[in-house]
Amino acid sequence: MHMHKYEKWWLTLGTSSLVLFLVILGISAFHQGHEPPSAKAYVDPERVDEYKPFNEPGLHKVEGKDWDYELVFVASAFYYDPGVVEIPKDSTLKIIATTKDVIHGFEVAGTNINMMLEPGYISEYTTTLDQAGEFLIICNEYCGVGHHTMKSMIKVVE
Ligand code: CUA
Repeated sequence: MHMHKYEKWWLTLGTSSLVLFLVILGISAFHQGHEPPSAKAYVDPERVDEYKPFNEPGLHKVEGKDWDYELVFVASAFYYDPGVVEIPKDSTLKIIATTKDVIHGFEVAGTNINMMLEPGYISEYTTTLDQAGEFLIICNEYCGVGHHTMKSMIKVVE
């Protein structure tokens, strides 16, 4: 097969830049130990239920912290625990969430809350919900056959 010399140069350039970028990506990911930005704590994904606060998923009033409530979520294929939660409007809230099995998403539709839940990591998000209404929580990471059924809800009440 005849190949024009420019075509060879182009192929060589394309292939070597691809390899170069993959090497850079690999080095930065593995060597520097990259991990999810919001995950500052770890949990054994197979024993999530045994660890605080995941042994009691749901809304908890807290004292002496910068937030009024802690909302603990445990995700697994294909549901969230709790399924629905009610929160008084204008309360400051820290969402603490993890997953028991595969990667799930945690997006609260109509807000800026959007986290990735990864097995072994604890994801956190602090916010104030200042709008009353029903906010759907959806999984936005494909996690299996039941992915599209995976949801929960935050009801912000006056
Ligand atoms: Cu869980 Cu998609």
